[in-house]
Amino acid sequence: MIVLGIESSCDETAAALVQNGTQVLSSLVSSQVKDHQRFGGVVPEIAARKHLENISPLVEMALVQAGLSWSDIEAVAVTRGPGLMGALLVGLLYAQGVSLERKIPLIPVNHVHAHIYSAFLNKQPEIARNGLTLALVVSGGHTNFYLMNEELDLKLIGYSLDDACGECFDKVARILALGYPGGPAIEKKAQLASGHLNFEMPRSMANKDLFLSYSGLKTHMVQLVRQNSQEWLDTNLGDLAHAFQVTAFDQILRKIKIAAEKFPIKRIILAGGVAANLYLRGELQKLGIPVLSPELRYCGDNAAMIACMAYFTHQKKSDFSLEPFSRYPFSSELES
Ligand code: KG4
Ligand code: ZN
Repeated sequence: MIVLGIESSCDETAAALVQNGTQVLSSLVSSQVKDHQRFGGVVPEIAARKHLENISPLVEMALVQAGLSWSDIEAVAVTRGPGLMGALLVGLLYAQGVSLERKIPLIPVNHVHAHIYSAFLNKQPEIARNGLTLALVVSGGHTNFYLMNEELDLKLIGYSLDDACGECFDKVARILALGYPGGPAIEKKAQLASGHLNFEMPRSMANKDLFLSYSGLKTHMVQLVRQNSQEWLDTNLGDLAHAFQVTAFDQILRKIKIAAEKFPIKRIILAGGVAANLYLRGELQKLGIPVLSPELRYCGDNAAMIACMAYFTHQKKSDFSLEPFSRYPFSSELES
C-alpha cells in the first residue's frame, strides 16, 4: 500500500510517499525558518500562507522523486494536531481534497505519536511489533514518555510539566547568542568542552514519578548569563554547554531508569528532534536496554513518519475525526 503523507503543523511543509508502512519512496521537507527568523519566532499567519504556497509543488516533486503518479497513491495521511490551527488546516484541507478526488482513504494522525513511528522508517515493518516498548518523544514542543504494546497502542505515562527539552535548548541557545535551532548549536559547542563537568547545575524532579521539568535549568542559565561578563561567558562557553547538556539529559536518563523498574520493557524508542543529539544517543546505549532511533534525517519533522503511522493505524480502524487540535490532549490521554 502506498501512502501519501502530509505535514504542516508548524513551520515545515513536508510531503512523503511511503510503501507498506516503512519503505520511504520519497520524503521532502520545505523549511520556513528563514521566513520567521527576523520575527524571532514562528508567525502563525505567515506559516499558514507559506504552507499554502508550498504544499502542491512539494507533493508533485515527491511524486516525481518516487517515480509515481497520482493513481499509484492508495491513501492520504495528514497531521491533525497538535500545531498551529491555520497551518494544520492547510494540510487537512489539501489532504481532504486528494482523498475526495482520488476516492482514497484519508487518515489523520497525531504529530507527536507519529514521531515514534519515524524509528521504523526504512526497516522491516515487523520491527514495529517487538515487545513492550518505552517510547520517548523529545522534541521542541514535547517531552513525552509512552508505553507501546504489541498492538501499537500508546499509553502516555509521563511528560514535562513546563518547557519541553528541545524548547529549553532553543531558549538557552538564544540567551547565549548561539542562534536557532538551539539544540544542534549547543551540541556543537559542548563538543569543545574540556570533558570535565566544571559546572554543577540544578537537577530537577528527583522524585520517583515520570514527570519532568525544564524551567529550573533554563532559569539557572539565564541567571548565569546575567551575572557574568561576556568575556567569562566566551571563555567558558564549551564547558557551560556541556554541563547544560549533561544536566538536561540526566533528567531523561533518570526517568528512563525509573520506567524500566516499573514496567517490563523490552526496548526503548528515542524519537523527536532532540533524538538527533549524539551525546544523548551514546548515553542511552549505556543503559543496557536495546534502543531503536530514527535515522538522523527523520528525527525532525517530516511527512514519512505521518504516512508510516497512518499505515499501521489504518490496519486497526477506519473511522477518524478530522477536527484539527492545537494542544496536546494530556488530560484525556493520561486518564485512559
Ligand atoms: O521534532 P522537531 O523537529 O520539532 C517539533 O515537533 O518540535 O524538534 C525540534 C527540536 C528543536 O528544539 C531543536 O533545537 C531540537 O529539536 N534539536 C536538538 C538537536 N537537533 C534538533 N536538540 C539537541 N541536540 C540536537 N542535536
Ligand atoms: Zn515534531
